[in-house]
Order: sequence, then structure tokens, then C-alpha cells
Amino acid sequence: RRRRLIEDCVRDLRLNNDHIHIVEQEMRKAIDDGLGNASHATASVKCFPTYVRRLPNGKEQGKFLSLDLGGTNFRVIVMELTPDQEFLMDSKIYAIPLSIMRGTGEELFDHIASCLASFVKDREIGDEKLPLGFTFSFPCAQEGLAKARLVKWTKGFCCSGVEGEDVVRLLHESLRKRGDVDIEICAILNDTTGCLMSCAWHEPRCRVGLILGTGTNACYLEEIEDIHTIDQDDFKGQKHMLVNTEWGAFGDKGELDFIRTKWDRNVDDMSVNPGKQIFEKMISGMYMGELIRQVLVDLMKDDLIFFGAHRDKILERGSFFTRYASEIESDPVGDYTRAKACLVEMDIDPTSVTDEDCSSLRYVCEVVSRRASFMASAGITALLKKMDYKDVVIAIDGSLFRYHPHFKNVMQSRISQLMGIDYKFDLMLSEDGSGRGAALVAAVLKRGE
Ligand code: BG6
Ligand code: GLC
Repeated sequence: RRRRLIEDCVRDLRLNNDHIHIVEQEMRKAIDDGLGNASHATASVKCFPTYVRRLPNGKEQGKFLSLDLGGTNFRVIVMELTPDQEFLMDSKIYAIPLSIMRGTGEELFDHIASCLASFVKDREIGDEKLPLGFTFSFPCAQEGLAKARLVKWTKGFCCSGVEGEDVVRLLHESLRKRGDVDIEICAILNDTTGCLMSCAWHEPRCRVGLILGTGTNACYLEEIEDIHTIDQDDFKGQKHMLVNTEWGAFGDKGELDFIRTKWDRNVDDMSVNPGKQIFEKMISGMYMGELIRQVLVDLMKDDLIFFGAHRDKILERGSFFTRYASEIESDPVGDYTRAKACLVEMDIDPTSVTDEDCSSLRYVCEVVSRRASFMASAGITALLKKMDYKDVVIAIDGSLFRYHPHFKNVMQSRISQLMGIDYKFDLMLSEDGSGRGAALVAAVLKRGE
């Protein structure tokens, strides 16, 4: 009986075929608006041109630096592409304290410059004048391969004085102020672009890059003649360009209101950017755990779960991490070993919960993560239907996709269903887009674009 009540309580989180179909159709419309000249300004899905026009051919070589800002970790990377298609890499993670994430832009870029300087000094590569690819995973209006204005911070960042500015210039300024490193920033890219490039290096069928991590976003290969926000005359004789959709902002114009729940609205209200990145907040790692926690709190209020357990910590905002859902759903059915380990992390004594509680906990996680994978599938289907290919590889990166035990399978079957069984596609985990991908964007550039 209790399970029936729980199922009843979370039923708004369950999407049916009609819902998914509408999400796909609306996404398609929003993408078309983003590409349109007149409709771009008001479109929720901005579809920014990336200026990346050629995919790698596997022959790129050289030594490059990359910066990776915007995912779980901030990293500095040095990467060497060898003629026999090997990647040699060394990287270091640096912390970005909350005070910097929410401080001034100058502090942020000074911090990045200082990490970069200490990285190249430690490795004694400061004199090599290596080209640098900057993976900056936020929505940017790109004006060239090395010029990108931040439109809006996402994923909890809100440094002042950066929105509207060219991020490459800000980093250059911080580097110039230091005066101890001589580095040329030759490309700025989004993590979706890096993800696609990294996969395309050895997989020519790769046409879509998808991130399911802290945030979510996708890029794809578009015909230049269909991108109406660039000056077509500048690209005569060229066919394609990668487009960074910034689909995380889908729903910002109310497109998803028909499926948003009270928990989605709570998560949004509590964020630093209410009303923004609605699709992202229903899907990605930064928000999914909190969404699950909100549902659990409501179930606890009705004594439907964890009755008699120590509840203080789970009542705290942010105490349920998205990785718990991956853990909990990884347990074999009927086994609660990992689930109990997560409960311990939430200060809940596993002996104070019943197997029924654990099963309900898993159920809530499944409902939320299935919805996320359905929505991502609807988005990918919108892109695949838009592109005129019959066989596409979708490169995917990000902690949610990497660690969740069922996300890939659910997406695989849902996209097959939406595309029809004759359509061929593969979901492929892409390795280190910000390292390899950034090096490849820089290398393709050197190849002579
Ligand atoms: C990494 C990429 O593997 O995935 C990053 O190299 C990207 O560029 C990241 O931002 C996204 O995942 P997460 O989970 O770290 O946000
Ligand atoms: C956010 C960012 C976007 C990025 C995505 C995944 O949606 O705005 O640029 O690609 O997160 O990291």
C-alpha cells in the first residue's frame, strides 16, 4: 500500500510517449529559432556558431596546452598528438573555491592565469610557446575561433564583470599582467565541441557531441547555409560548421511548463539563476540529486519513507549528491549494499531503515533519472532528425553519463523508438574532450584552415 502511495506521489515525474514527443517537437522549433536571423534574439536555444568548420582527420600532430573550466574540475592539460595517433598527456586539477566562483571576473582569470603559470613552470615548458585551447563550458556568442563573449554564467558561477565580455581577452589580460608566461590562446571552445572533436578524431561518423555532467548541452554539425546568424559571404565554398546549441536553456520560454513539477520549481527557485537553464535543471548532475532529495523530503513528511530514521542531514539542501543515484541504481535488484553506503554518508543508520525503504529510495532515483534520460533522448532525436545523415555517432561525456548504470541503455532504446528501427546510430563515450578536443581544435587550425 505504501508503495502505491509513493507511486502516486511521484507520478508527475513520469513521462509518457506523448510528453516525449512534444519535448522533441518543441526542441526542434527552439533550435530552428536559434539558427534564424530574426528569431535568434528571443530564442531559448541559442545555437551559437562555433567557427569550427573541419573535423579532425586523424593526422593532426603537435604539442598543445588546454584549459578546462566549467565541469566538475578545473584542469590545466598539456597534450601531445603524435604522428602514430597517440595522445600523450599530463594534467593537473586545481581548485576553484566558491569565493572565486562568485567573486569578480578579474579574480577568476587571475587565478586561472596563476594555475597555468605554475603548471608550465613545474614542467619546464614555459619557453616552448605552446598554443593553448581554452575549453570554457558556458554559453558564449562566438565571433571567431579565439573570440567569445560570455552571454550568461551557468552551473553556479556568477563572477562579476564577465558577462558580455570577450573571455579570451580577459584571460590574455591576466596573463599579461603577470608577465611571466608567454602563451597564445588560439582557440576557445565549448566542452560539447571538445567532446565531438575528440571522438571524431578516430570516428568519422561522429556528428553530435553531448555532455551529461554538471550541466547538459549538445553540439552538432550544421550546414553553413542553414546558420542565418553568420555572414554567409564569409564562408563561401564551405559546407559545415559545428553549432553549440546551449540546449540547457530550453524551457526558459515556458516550453517545458507542461511537465515541470513542484520539485523542479523548488530546485530552480533555490538556484543562483532562477528561471534560467530549465532543461538543464531537469536533467543534469548539478541538480538531479537535489531534485531526488526534494521528493524524498515530501515522502518523509507523509511518513512514506525512512520512518524513525535520523533525518537531519537529508533535510539539508544539497546533501543528496547525484552520484548517489548512480550508486543506488547500480545495486543488483534486491541488494542494497551501495544504497546503504550512501545512507551512511547522509548520516542515516542503515539498521534504522527497512528493505522497503531502500527499494522506495531506488524507485525515486529511477523515476528521476529515467525522466532525465528520456528528455536527453528527445533532444538528441530532434538533432538527428534535423541532420541528413543515416548513420551517426553521438559522442558523450560527463559524470552523469559516465557513472550512471542505465542512462546509456535507456537512451539507446528510447532514441531507437523515436527514430525508427531502420535508423543507425551509436552512443559513444568520448574521452577527455577538454584535453584532446581542445588540442584538436588548435591542431586543425594549424593544419591550415
Ligand atoms: C569532461 C570533459 O570529461 O567532462 C569536460 O573533459 C567537461 O570538458 C566534462 O566539461 C563534463 O562533465 P562533468 O561531469 O565534469 O561536468
Ligand atoms: C552548461 C553550459 C554549457 C555546457 C554545459 C555542459 O549548460 O552553459 O556551455 O556545455 O553546461 O557542461
